[in-house]
Amino acid sequence: MEARDDDESPATPPSSSPPSAPTSAPTSAPTSGPTSTTTSSGETPSGSSETAATNGTPAEPSAVAAPADSPETTRRVDTAEAARGDAAQPRHPGVDPRGTAAAAPGSAAGPLPVERTPLSGRFTTPGRGAHAPQGPNGPATYDLSSAQLLRPSKRPPQTGWRRALFVGSGGLVNPGESAGDAARRELIARVNQPLHGCYKIAMLSLKGGVGKTTMTTTLGSTFASLRGDRVIAVDANPDRGTLSQKIPLETTATVRHLLRDANRVRRYSDVRAYTSQGPSRLEVLASEQDPAVSEAFSEVDYRRTVTLLEHFYNVVLTDCGTGLMHSAMKGVLDVADSLLIVSSASIDGARSASATLDWLDAHGYRDLVSRSVAVINYARRSSGNVDLDRVSDHFAARCRAVVRLPFDPHLEEGAEIELDKLASRTRAALLELAATVADDFGRAGSRVRRPMIPR
Ligand SMILES: Nc1ncnc2c1ncn2[C@@H]1O[C@H](COP(=O)(O)OP(=O)(O)OP(=O)(O)O)[C@@H](O)[C@H]1O
Ligand SMILES: [Mg+2]
Repeated sequence: MEARDDDESPATPPSSSPPSAPTSAPTSAPTSGPTSTTTSSGETPSGSSETAATNGTPAEPSAVAAPADSPETTRRVDTAEAARGDAAQPRHPGVDPRGTAAAAPGSAAGPLPVERTPLSGRFTTPGRGAHAPQGPNGPATYDLSSAQLLRPSKRPPQTGWRRALFVGSGGLVNPGESAGDAARRELIARVNQPLHGCYKIAMLSLKGGVGKTTMTTTLGSTFASLRGDRVIAVDANPDRGTLSQKIPLETTATVRHLLRDANRVRRYSDVRAYTSQGPSRLEVLASEQDPAVSEAFSEVDYRRTVTLLEHFYNVVLTDCGTGLMHSAMKGVLDVADSLLIVSSASIDGARSASATLDWLDAHGYRDLVSRSVAVINYARRSSGNVDLDRVSDHFAARCRAVVRLPFDPHLEEGAEIELDKLASRTRAALLELAATVADDFGRAGSRVRRPMIPR
């Protein structure tokens, strides 16, 4: 997670630089050649230990006695050295494999014997004479990764008869996870892709009532419920937006109040006082409910809002009003990493969504269109005779991806949205949508922001 200015996350992220090699690592260690870290024990060719036994140093007492059951790693290193033809040579200058200290070439006193080399903090076995594993820069670390140490086991099934059997047998019978469970796990992994910085996505449509607010809430809730970082939805609707009605209201504060007090906002808890949080952990920053005031929410206001929020949140979703001409829209389009173009599952809805893309193409946002995801939202129970496969193909040719969101009785209510109350196929579609959007997380902030052609 990116370093954020808040009281819960440290301002300075843990250093990502790898730990430095021990300064006492022998300088004469080979700089190339096989080591225990280049080949996992599972990849050790059979018979390599025999080769080591015939070509390597005979088992003689070493500085530190090797355990009776010498690990595979050690045998593998011996094999590598045998291949280089230096198995009988001391691995550490100044240490005879038979336990006799000798001066290193060019060194009067010679380095410390290997068994005294400070190696604290690493999974390293001090020198064991001929059996000490070696890496390019010194003693090789044993591979203690879980993948190496854990025996492969089937994942417990999550759904269906497999789950029933697993639970009913008290975990004794594990038929393994189904293909559906595995696919879902992969989608969740995609949703959880690392995100450096703040990813901004705006819901857009020229037509009203197609589901922009519904998409903002459901997509935001899906991210918030699956990711460990912070997700916020901002209402940039100039006409009394309804976003704040989609989660339980915790505050009457709006974006206006946040901007008014922006100079006093230092920590996450400061900004949290202006937001409401739903059961999924999604936070919502409400718009002004007086249309006369919200109409005045300008491009500058929007930019200031996002500049503030990106210090504290990893994903910012913006619910736009209908149309592309309202005051904040230029700011929305300029700061967005990508767009969700929402279309209803009807011909007029598809035409409006397509016209939205035309307008964006014509006004200098072609790059944004190509990064956008189109959503065909079944806001009505039936789509009649409309061939939605063709509609999908149309958007697939223009956008990065197309996802369909089915009709859902819980969404139809138009009230607060709880993911748990959605039909399983609606949740599955949202998971797919979130994974598709997250596939672009690696490019957060990378968009070249070109000046917009004046309208
Ligand atoms: N997938 C869906 N299933 C069932 N009903 C839906 C779905 N999506 C949207 N709706 C219904 O459509 C209504 C309008 O949706 P929503 O408010 O999200 O549209 P909007 O594009 O934000 O509208 P506006 O342009 O007025 O802001 C919702 O109140 C809900 O009743
Ligand atoms: Mg709306």
